[in-house]
Amino acid sequence: MHVKPHLFIPGPSNVPEAIRSAMDIRMEDMRSPDFPEFTLPLFEDAKKAFKLTKGRVFLYPSSGTGAWEAAITNTLNRGDKVLMSRFGQFSVLWADMAVRLGLKPQVFDEEWGVGVPVEKYAEALAADKNHEIKAVFATHNETATGVTSDIAGVRKALNDANHPALLFVDGVSSVGCIDFRMDEWGVDCCVSGSQKGFMLPTGLGILAVSDKALEANKSSKMERCYFSFEDMIKQNDNGYFPYTPATQLLRGFRASLDLLLAEGLDNVFARHNRMATGVRKAVEGWGLQLCAKEPKWYSNTVSAILVPEGIDSAQVVKTAYFRYNLSLGVGLTKVAGKVFRIGHLGAIDEILIGSALFGVEMAMRDCGIQITPGSGTGAAIEFFRETSTASDTSKPQLKLAS
Ligand SMILES: Cc1ncc(COP(=O)(O)O)c(C=O)c1O
Repeated sequence: MHVKPHLFIPGPSNVPEAIRSAMDIRMEDMRSPDFPEFTLPLFEDAKKAFKLTKGRVFLYPSSGTGAWEAAITNTLNRGDKVLMSRFGQFSVLWADMAVRLGLKPQVFDEEWGVGVPVEKYAEALAADKNHEIKAVFATHNETATGVTSDIAGVRKALNDANHPALLFVDGVSSVGCIDFRMDEWGVDCCVSGSQKGFMLPTGLGILAVSDKALEANKSSKMERCYFSFEDMIKQNDNGYFPYTPATQLLRGFRASLDLLLAEGLDNVFARHNRMATGVRKAVEGWGLQLCAKEPKWYSNTVSAILVPEGIDSAQVVKTAYFRYNLSLGVGLTKVAGKVFRIGHLGAIDEILIGSALFGVEMAMRDCGIQITPGSGTGAAIEFFRETSTASDTSKPQLKLAS
């Protein structure tokens, strides 16, 4: 029997059956007269996933990295000063891109395990009387360390300083999983991708922009072509694209939005919180620590778990993969060998989480980590039982997972 690896990396996440079947279609004509009947409502509904009412959402045939680039090159200018912070591999890469595209970031380097230093941002913004800082960057969910940052706090820092800078948020591993409020938090560019909370294959760079970002686009002189807002807007307004769109992914995106909106975004966030708490109960039961330093940083989409001194976390990941068909996330760069990651995002429920924890326990014991069998899985079992809202045992519950 060959069982495909059970996927518990923090993206790509599992693709539910409803989305898979929505994409299993014949090729279609992306210039047909009725294509806009499909795309125009899709563009509008995409905004709901970001809690955005004005502005627009661009759908690029790229991964999240493309949407990072689109956000920068369409709204800023070479030499612009921007505020950034690095505390994990993805915030490191974003800062690297900013430099390579000609921005001048003022970067705060933080310990891996904490998030955006809101107080330092507040001080820097208050000190910037001439408004030289043109944009503030914040990684909402640092996937490398399992840390979620306070975006409302960053907005407050901007407001308190009465500062006009744009607010850029990396929501690649948070949108569609963790509470995100683009309008309320005054976010101007929110970058996401298809393969995490949207439960799709990789291949769509999803970028939500505010009206303020669209206004900034008019004075932005950076070179852009493939990612140009102007080219996109001209065609999107009529329901088309400036180049061949990834039509199957768009059909899948429709099904993804239908699932998320039918469940209700706030219910989706609560489900992720509950699944993540179950994982954290297991970590506590094992007597291990998360890379995230304090509960305020805990991520509801990914947990990075520190292994004890003398153990190589890569060995745990390898053992889980080869012996138990379980794909876990490796530790990246600075935390390589020190953490392994469990992705708990997208189409997940208690049973799926339970299977991952079961495999993790086996792999950790195989690698010499002294944990009592059942200590983590048992803690998660009790938490899930105690917090189950499925009081009616005579009806099926909402089924998202494939
Ligand atoms: C927080 C974060 N930002 C950006 C990226 C880059 O996205 P992609 O790999 O889709 O280009 C990732 C990928 O995992 C991520 O987790």
